[in-house]
Amino acid sequence: MDEYLVTGGRALSGEVQVHGAKNSALPILAAALLGEETVLHNCPRLTDVEAACNILEYLGCSTRREGQTIVIRAGEGGDYSIPDRLMSEMRSSIVFLGAVISRFGRAVVSMPGGCELGPRPIDIHLDCLRKMGVEIREDHGHLDCRVAGRLHGARLTLPFPSVGATENVMLAAVLAQGETQIHNAAREPEIADLADFLTACGAKVRITPEGTVLIQGVAALHGAEHRVIPDRIAAATYLCAAAVTGGRVRLTQVRPDHLTAVLPVFEEAGCRLQTGAGEILLEAPPRLERVRMVRTMPYPGFCTDAQSPVMAMACGARGTSIFVETIFESRYKQVDELARMGARIKVEGRVAVVEGVEKLHSASMRCTDLRGGASLVVAALAAEGTSAIREIRHIDRGYEDLDRHLRSIGGEIIRRQREERERQG
Ligand code: EPZ
Repeated sequence: MDEYLVTGGRALSGEVQVHGAKNSALPILAAALLGEETVLHNCPRLTDVEAACNILEYLGCSTRREGQTIVIRAGEGGDYSIPDRLMSEMRSSIVFLGAVISRFGRAVVSMPGGCELGPRPIDIHLDCLRKMGVEIREDHGHLDCRVAGRLHGARLTLPFPSVGATENVMLAAVLAQGETQIHNAAREPEIADLADFLTACGAKVRITPEGTVLIQGVAALHGAEHRVIPDRIAAATYLCAAAVTGGRVRLTQVRPDHLTAVLPVFEEAGCRLQTGAGEILLEAPPRLERVRMVRTMPYPGFCTDAQSPVMAMACGARGTSIFVETIFESRYKQVDELARMGARIKVEGRVAVVEGVEKLHSASMRCTDLRGGASLVVAALAAEGTSAIREIRHIDRGYEDLDRHLRSIGGEIIRRQREERERQG
C-alpha cells in the first residue's frame, strides 16, 4: 500500500481547481441505471467512483471514462442481486438499493453493517421503502427486496434528515405510481444535484423552499447530460491546508454558497476570505487563532465531513477549540494519530477539546477513515519535519490526486509506492 511523505513548514500559495463532488457523483451514477444514456461531467477519479462504475457494469450497464466525463449506457438485462465483493468496496453502495428496486422490481444486497465511523444503520431507508410497497426480508446479512405489485408513492416523514435515505427514496419514487412526499428530507447540496439530474432525465422532482422533496412518478426516464457540483469537502480541506501553513490560496470551480457554515470558522481563526462567483481566496496569518466551537449538524449546519480537517487546523492554533460531533458516533478516530504529532486533544463522548500547541512535530501515522486521513495530511503540512502517512487508500476514496494538487501550490508531499518503500527498507 502506498504512503504519503509530508514535510511541513512551507506556506502554500497558488490556485487549486476543486474537483467534482464524490457524494453527488455516487447517487447520480446509481440513478444512471434508470435512464438510457447518461453523460456525467466533472466526475472525479476516485476509488469510490470506480466502485460505483463496477456495480453499474455488473447491473448490465456499460461505462466509459473520457477525462472527467463518464458515459453510462443502461443495458437491457442485468442482475438485481449485487455480490458482496462489490457492495463492500464502498459503504455508500447502499444508495444503489432504491435504483435497483426501481429498475428491476427486486433487489438482493448485503447489509452495509458498521464502518470506521461507527454503526451505520439503514432503518430509515428500509422503513420508507416498505411504505412504498417493498417487501423486505433480512436474511443472513442480506436484504431481499421485492415489490408487491407496483412501487407506489407515499407521504414520508424522516425521523432524521438522512442523506442516503433521502436519495434512496428519490430513486425509488421517480418511477413509482403516484406522488411521494419526503418531509424532513436531507437538504445537502448533493440532494438538489440529484434532483436536477433526475429532472433532466424526465423525472418530476421539486424541492419546496422548506426542503420537502416532492416527486411525481413517471413511466420512464431518458438519459441526460449533467455536470456534477464541486466538492465542498475537498474545498474545505484545501482551505484548511492553506490556513495551517500561513498560506494564500485561491480555489476555483467551487461553490462558496455550499460552504456558508464552514467559511466563518476560517475568519474566526484569523484568515481573510474573499468569495466570488466560483472562487474563494484565503489568506492566513502566520499563526491561527482557536475556533470557539464547532458543532456538526445536518446541512445547512456545519458538515461532519469538514470536522476532522478543521480539527487539524485547531491543533496548532492559539487557544482552545471545542468540537461537538452530533452526526456520527465514532468520528474522532483521527485524534490518536494527531496526538502522535504532539496535538493535545481530549475526547469525552461526542465532545473533543483541542488545546492548541505552539508547534506540531512529524510522526508516522495511519489513516483511519477518509476525512480523518485528510486531517493528518493537513496537520503534517504544518508540522516540523517529515511525516509518513500510511493507509492512504482511505484518502483515495474521496480526494483526486491530493498530493499532486498540494505540490502544485508548494506543499512538500510525495506519494511513495509500496515497492519503493520496501526497497528503501
Ligand atoms: C452521507 O452519508 C455522506 N456519504 C457522508 O459522507 C456524510 O458524512 C453524511 O451523509 C452526513 O452528511 C455520501 O453521501 C455517500 P446519513 P450517509 O444517512 O448518507 C444515521 C464522506 O466522508 N442514520 O445522513 O450514510 C446515521 O447512522 C462520507 O464523504 C440512521 O440512524 O449519512 C448517522 O448517524 C462519510 N438510520 C446519521 O443518521 C438510517 O437509516 C447520518 O447519516 C440512516 C442514517
